[in-house]
Amino acid sequence: MKKEDFEFLCAYLKTESGLVLTEEKTYLVESRLVPVARKRGLADLDELIGVVRSKRDPDLNKEVIEAMTTNESFFFRDVKPFESLKSAVMPVISSARKAGGASKIRIWSAACSSGQEPYTIAMVLKENPELLQGLDFEIVATDLSTEILDKAKEGLYTQFEAQRGMPIELLVKYFEQVGEQWKIDESLRSMISFQPLNLLSNLNALGRFDIVFCRNVLIYFDAETKGEVLGRMRRQMPEDGFLFLGGAETVVGVSDAFKTVPGERGVYTCSDAPAPAAVIPTPIAKIA
Ligand SMILES: C[S@@+](CC[C@H](N)C(=O)[O-])C[C@H]1O[C@@H](n2cnc3c(N)ncnc32)[C@H](O)[C@@H]1O
Repeated sequence: MKKEDFEFLCAYLKTESGLVLTEEKTYLVESRLVPVARKRGLADLDELIGVVRSKRDPDLNKEVIEAMTTNESFFFRDVKPFESLKSAVMPVISSARKAGGASKIRIWSAACSSGQEPYTIAMVLKENPELLQGLDFEIVATDLSTEILDKAKEGLYTQFEAQRGMPIELLVKYFEQVGEQWKIDESLRSMISFQPLNLLSNLNALGRFDIVFCRNVLIYFDAETKGEVLGRMRRQMPEDGFLFLGGAETVVGVSDAFKTVPGERGVYTCSDAPAPAAVIPTPIAKIA
């Protein structure tokens, strides 16, 4: 791949999706984009980049951006965040909303990939109905990639995907075996509304969220983009909202819009919220 093409692609991907590529990722570009070029009947990467540059085929440009995303996900990823959701965050949010006369809790899975994250959230709520204290709830799941979002909506997983991270009793309870695959139960599917969304775009139309999961996507952005996205996310949240980041992500040194919640790794609240002493973990009953 020509140096100038690689540089063009780096700049293009950063502008369109936030993804930052370094030179040692040339192999990644080749392994992801050569199949796209082949599928489109293009001779090689040079020709592919030429078409992307010309912007004459918007579908191809979209396909290139989506091909460069990393969609790895699994059910109950890292376990602890979902324990925190159940034992620390939901009780606080539910009590606050009930006391404030609100009728609904809104949760956003902000880069949901193939759906394991929002379905895990749905399972936690369904397994622990007392968490909602009679309140209604809404789970919104978004992703840049419409291809991966289609998979999420379909809720159909291979044996490997379905078993990865999933307690067997929940697999049996919430999935139906379809040939060699596992289909998520409609009772969970209907709890989630899926929609395409680029985190670099305007978030206002989404409304406000009490709880935001933005896990394992900011790692692909540079510090400036991370800070900018977190700042805009903050504006979609009430002062007492909670943010969940991935295990390799933090707000520290990136954004002053959020502060850590002591004792709850990867959980943040808005920096202008009262001290998060209100978060008193309850004993962790079985979430799974
Ligand atoms: C590694 S997955 C994380 C999935 C899930 N949150 C988890 O932790 O398991 C990262 C997801 O971020 C999405 N993504 C990348 N850039 C994005 C952007 N600018 N806006 C929205 N989603 C983006 C990708 O399409 C991919 O599905």
